[in-house]
Amino acid sequence: MSSKAKEETPKAATGTITMDEIWVQGGRRLSGSVAAGGSKNATLPVLAATLLAPGVYHFTNVPVLKDISTMLQMLARFGVTSRRTDAHSIEIDTRNQKNAEAPYELVKTMRASIYVLGPLLARYGEARVSLPGGCAWGPRPVDLHIKGMEALGAVVDIDHGYIVAKADSLRGSTVSFDISSVGATGNILMAAATAAGETVIENAASEPEITALAEFLVAMGARIEGLGSPRLVVKGVPELHPADAAMIPDRIEAGTLLAAAAITGGDVEVTNVDPSHLGAVLTKFEAAGSSVERADRSVRVRAPERPEAIAVTTQPYPGFPTDMQAQFMALLSVGDGASSIVDTIYTDRFTHVAELERLGADIRVEGNTAFVQGVESLSGAPVMATDLRASAALILAGLIAGGETRVSRVYHLDRGYERLEEKLSALGASIRRVRR
Ligand code: EPU
Repeated sequence: MSSKAKEETPKAATGTITMDEIWVQGGRRLSGSVAAGGSKNATLPVLAATLLAPGVYHFTNVPVLKDISTMLQMLARFGVTSRRTDAHSIEIDTRNQKNAEAPYELVKTMRASIYVLGPLLARYGEARVSLPGGCAWGPRPVDLHIKGMEALGAVVDIDHGYIVAKADSLRGSTVSFDISSVGATGNILMAAATAAGETVIENAASEPEITALAEFLVAMGARIEGLGSPRLVVKGVPELHPADAAMIPDRIEAGTLLAAAAITGGDVEVTNVDPSHLGAVLTKFEAAGSSVERADRSVRVRAPERPEAIAVTTQPYPGFPTDMQAQFMALLSVGDGASSIVDTIYTDRFTHVAELERLGADIRVEGNTAFVQGVESLSGAPVMATDLRASAALILAGLIAGGETRVSRVYHLDRGYERLEEKLSALGASIRRVRR
């Protein structure tokens, strides 16, 4: 690495972030079989939940991702040790755990750090967690997390950019959300597990990652009813104990790999997936002209040469996930006709639009709707990733764009996709990581 490149490499509290690029030569039809990894967004709250009971935990199907190491670094702040026992297994030891602050330098790099709020409050009666601040596509507030802790009896103040929550003891209550929130539902589940009495969460998130967390808490001794539904009832128990768990498959990684098949007119099977978690996504692949075969633990997508134009609206689960919105935007940018994409979860999650336009896409954004006029072809160009799913969308577009697409700032991609370029290469893509 040249000294200049070294100077330009940004560092984060989580270690060195590389300025690697991914270079794609477009035009190859993908085919074959590839396995999805464990779910990032299920693993993050499960790791935070280990703060609830002292002991040793073993987890399998844990993806190797930047966000997972950030959460492990966060846990280390509380005296929790972790080690990989094999490539996708980890052991967590919380026996020497102590309370401490969740610092800004970690929380700002990963919003999911806020998952430590509920467990710390439950365990110590006090938690000090930095406010995460904005993210690449907007403010993303945490008011529902705070409202939930207050409903359980905590007094919450904001002090110099930190959430300071205190409660002599947490007591069950009814928490009714206007908006369905994955993170707030998870935080309240963890805080309520050992609260006195019964907690009811109305309009709870029913995403598979939250159900996986609830199942893990049940394995730790929690009493939770209504798993997978929007009404969760937690009957507080005096204490929890460690448990082991296998992480569920990553439905968004699987959906992204299937989108790679769809955009290249390919034929790809993704294994280690739960097709029931992908219902709305698979229906949209079908609407766009692909044939979809669902098996027990795999899905196969066989795509036409060009996708048909469709309308997509993101919704809380079991609706179409916002985390697949950018990838479908890439797909529909080469669709046959005019598509529309409405994001009702994050109304301004459109940072990928300008970059897709650099590749020749024809997209107009009005409010929370993107109107995508399909073009016959895209042409490769240097583009810049601005967030995790935007990075994936640009790589998908690069798979079909003529010539070379160079995607920079792929450290965003590395937060949530394990070796994506290797998986796509195994399916026949001409793609490589250029180390910087
Ligand atoms: N919201 C509030 N107040 C809050 C919390 C959320 O108004 O206190 C709003 C948000 O602004 C948003 C909606 O509620 O409009 C839903 O947000 P949610 O809380 O469900 O999102 P999250 O828990 O912060 C998780 C995923 C995101 C995914 C969203 C939506 C994790 C670690 N993150 O975030 O994943 O987009 O749910 O499904 O699970 C990603 O993986 O790329 C990613 C961003």
